[in-house]
Amino acid sequence: MIKTTEPLVDSFGRPHNNLRISVTDRCNIRCVYCMPELVEFMPRAQLLNYEEIERVVRVAATLGIDKVRLTGGEPLVRRDLPILIEKLSAVPGIRDVGLTTNGVLLAPLADRLRRAGLERINISLDTMDPEKFRRLTRRDGQEKVIAGILAAKEAGFDPVKVNAVAIRGETEDDVAPLARFAREHGLELRFIEYMPLDAGQQWERAKVLFASEILEILAREVAPLAPIAHQDPKAPALDYDYLDGGGRVGFIASVSRPFCTSCNRLRLTSDGKLRNCLFSLEETDIRALLRGGADDTAIALAFRESVAAKWEGHEINTARFIRPDRLMHSIGG
Ligand code: 5AD
Ligand code: SF4
Repeated sequence: MIKTTEPLVDSFGRPHNNLRISVTDRCNIRCVYCMPELVEFMPRAQLLNYEEIERVVRVAATLGIDKVRLTGGEPLVRRDLPILIEKLSAVPGIRDVGLTTNGVLLAPLADRLRRAGLERINISLDTMDPEKFRRLTRRDGQEKVIAGILAAKEAGFDPVKVNAVAIRGETEDDVAPLARFAREHGLELRFIEYMPLDAGQQWERAKVLFASEILEILAREVAPLAPIAHQDPKAPALDYDYLDGGGRVGFIASVSRPFCTSCNRLRLTSDGKLRNCLFSLEETDIRALLRGGADDTAIALAFRESVAAKWEGHEINTARFIRPDRLMHSIGG
């Protein structure tokens, strides 16, 4: 076994084996629920380089991290991402490297990513309507995303997951067309409840389109569904199968059914700050350790301290909720 020390267990007994790594805060589109129209990105020198990311992952793997996922901003805008994937896949103890992408740059890269060792891929697409895509992302390129999704399928990713953010008063009409597209191409569609991490502070509870309502739309307009038989209680997604054999749909019901009690995730921002929650108000500066000559033991200790300080969960549903300063694109989702 690779593990040299006790696993990362927090004060609520939750073991942490999953690290999400934002490789850049930059993005080639501007989703309204994530970024402001005008955004200033970090100077490149602030980003961890690939050697630094690899070192963090090596240390984390000795603490029981065995799954990593690369996020952004948009990870594919970072040059030579397949090289990072190769490095991380080769780290002893890492079983699984995943990628969350907006898909715009994916089509020509899908095969190369697969060959680099990428195991899982999630592509974000909120609408089948190109005009609506333009409104939601403030950019063109929906046809590239669709080409990227199909290229991922072609490259052999299985499943290919498609993430759609669900916003009340905005995306109800997109539910059924997205579901039909997913069924047609054998994709696993997952709806994500809108979370308060947007730039314009536009989020309000009333704008969350709940999983239960999406299920109703699907049952009415597409096909009836039933919860899958062996639901992993730790998985953030609630999965349903179409009763006609048309595949699977998932819901990340972060607001209506928070999955904090089984959270196993840590997040590393592109500038090397470790966060123990999407919504945490505090961060641990791993970059300062990396660049200050700290040894692996010090980095491991910083991971342990971050995990030890983890709260029970987010409080989106309470009056106490405080939005983190960081926006989604700089945390990584
Ligand atoms: N609420 C819910 N999901 C979000 N994402 C980005 N911002 C938000 C938000 N405010 C999603 C993206 C992508 C993933 C990285 O996070 O659509 O699928
Ligand atoms: Fe870019 Fe993803 Fe944010 Fe959209 S949600 S702006 S694709 S980082």
